[in-house]
Amino acid sequence: MNVAGLAAHFEELVGGRPRIFRAPGRVNLIGEHTDYNDGYVMPAAIGFSAYVALGPRPDRKLLIRSEEFARQFEFDLDRLPQQRTGEWCDYVLGVAVVLQRQGLNLAGANLLIDGEIPIGAGLSSSAAIEVASALALMSRSEGHLPLPEIAKLCQTAENTFVGARVGIMDQFVSCLGKARHALLLDCRTLAFELAPIPAGIQLVVCNTMVKHDLATGTYNTRRAECEEAVRYFAKWNPAVRALRDVSVDLLKRHAADLPPTILKRCSHVIHENQRTLDAARAFTQGDLAKMGELMRESHQSLRDLYQVSCRELDVMVEAAAGLPGYIGGRMTGGGFGGCTVNLVRHEHAADFATRISERFRQATGIEPQIYICSAEDGARELSPSF
Ligand code: GLA
Repeated sequence: MNVAGLAAHFEELVGGRPRIFRAPGRVNLIGEHTDYNDGYVMPAAIGFSAYVALGPRPDRKLLIRSEEFARQFEFDLDRLPQQRTGEWCDYVLGVAVVLQRQGLNLAGANLLIDGEIPIGAGLSSSAAIEVASALALMSRSEGHLPLPEIAKLCQTAENTFVGARVGIMDQFVSCLGKARHALLLDCRTLAFELAPIPAGIQLVVCNTMVKHDLATGTYNTRRAECEEAVRYFAKWNPAVRALRDVSVDLLKRHAADLPPTILKRCSHVIHENQRTLDAARAFTQGDLAKMGELMRESHQSLRDLYQVSCRELDVMVEAAAGLPGYIGGRMTGGGFGGCTVNLVRHEHAADFATRISERFRQATGIEPQIYICSAEDGARELSPSF
């Protein structure tokens, strides 16, 4: 559904012309599973977005509807549930609860949500809904928060309300992404730099169609394993607060003292941080060969050390090898399914899409979806100009 269609449907369902807020999904170029280790990430916002249409209500109710799910939800702003309901509305509700906890006085509203980001594909459909909802709900309050604060608040909603212990990357880039740029983010300080995507390069995102679900299990297990690693290193060096503080040297010195699984997990994170910084430099200098090499190394590390890939993601990465215009690629996002991201020269992107689909289909029997993307701007209100 396009934005005018969403507005028209809102008018039909609820009456009145809505305000519309948009927040994009993202693809991460490099820096995977580093954000919750206070490390570095380099994502870009993409052209798939979540939209929230909002109209005021005279009472203290929040009515939440979606274009995708039949069930609608009604809550009393003075008695919002303080625990997740297990329904799709949790992403919106969680944001409302955290806004209230931070002292914002919300007013009654009708919300209609529409999303074009494939769900469970690792392109951050949930972060986009959270960010668009935060902008919408805030428009019905006196308070105003700067975008980095909105990103943090949405992360808190997902951590404490939805129950997925995600890092800050997705919400941050959904808020602050910029067209034609990737964003190098220091997840400890939230300082960021924009790295221009070299001209003539397209981001080709390949969906294995294997769905992942972050709220369940393994993601949180990986976080716990990283925390365990931090406890070891802090014994040897009390200055270590997160894996971000562990140098390659310190890792080498203590490799033999760490349990094998913990060693694998932290080796990934510590080297991935360095790769991300190197990648940002390579990108800025237009050194695409180096960037491609770093993306390949990142995938191997996620596959063998962090162990969050799956057969279909590996097949998709291998299927790209040798195709004309291909610079580099890797799994993107949390893993266990979802998408790969590939840097492909513009003039070869369409052909790359066709050929990687064929190769993937032959190897797996699955029909993939391929999205030829570019980096887009972060979240904002669209109305009244939509
Ligand atoms: C998910 C989380 C992010 C990040 C990635 C892995 O997308 O939402 O915070 O941890 O996984 O890099």
